[in-house]
Amino acid sequence: MPNCAPAMRPSATMVKFVVEYGKDTAPPAPDGRLDAPTFHRNHEPIWSAIAGFLGGQSGDVLETGSGTGQHAATYARRTPRLTWWPSDIYPSHLSSIAAWREHEGLANLRAPQRIDLTDPEWTWQADGRSGGALAAMFCVNVLHISPWRVSQNLLSGAGRLLRADGRLFVYGPFMRDGEHTAPSNAEFDATLRAQNPQWGVRDTRDLRALANDAGLTLADITPMPANNLVLAFARAIRQN
Ligand SMILES: C[S@@+](CC[C@H](N)C(=O)[O-])C[C@H]1O[C@@H](n2cnc3c(N)ncnc32)[C@H](O)[C@@H]1O
Repeated sequence: MPNCAPAMRPSATMVKFVVEYGKDTAPPAPDGRLDAPTFHRNHEPIWSAIAGFLGGQSGDVLETGSGTGQHAATYARRTPRLTWWPSDIYPSHLSSIAAWREHEGLANLRAPQRIDLTDPEWTWQADGRSGGALAAMFCVNVLHISPWRVSQNLLSGAGRLLRADGRLFVYGPFMRDGEHTAPSNAEFDATLRAQNPQWGVRDTRDLRALANDAGLTLADITPMPANNLVLAFARAIRQN
């Protein structure tokens, strides 16, 4: 099973990888809720990049690789016209997401489902039914700590599942057109690849190519603190 991300970007003196929340981070609360230290740093900057789109939407948002469930719970509270569908692969993470859902008591936050992006035919279930077209998809800090096929399957899934005006938002560290955006990201990339040769900081150029294959376009790139980016993918407009 793939491991989770580093808790913090490594420096010369510190390298710390989180394999699974609750094992390499603080243990869960008695009700199963886990806490991701990165959530506290990331969720407001990410919100600033996605709120403009999500604030005007209604419909369904699928989050893949939800981890503890804190992003879905926080953003569901801010977007009452959207229904959030969190997902992950680790049982402990699915339990945490369910516990956060119970804790928050939000009508528009659905039970977590197991979605493994290594499966090229992955899909989502809406209330037991096969899910319909999504207003948005959301994926934070997953692509660099998973095999390349996870990126491939995320983009192809977005091509299948997003509605015509839908968006896929992806947050993390990325190279831009073959170049690292900072020396610390190059160092981080090397650390990731040493940990697992299937991991690594992905390149916007490669993701753009995957998007194009899926009928999508890399519509927007928003710089984030600590040399991260939010990538927004939208359906490509067909030229007749
Ligand atoms: C660094 S954690 C990020 C969690 C959460 N998005 C956040 O930012 O707090 C990476 C997440 O990706 C999930 N993940 C790893 N491989 C996956 C896969 N093949 N399919 C779906 N999720 C996966 C892990 O279980 C973990 O929850």
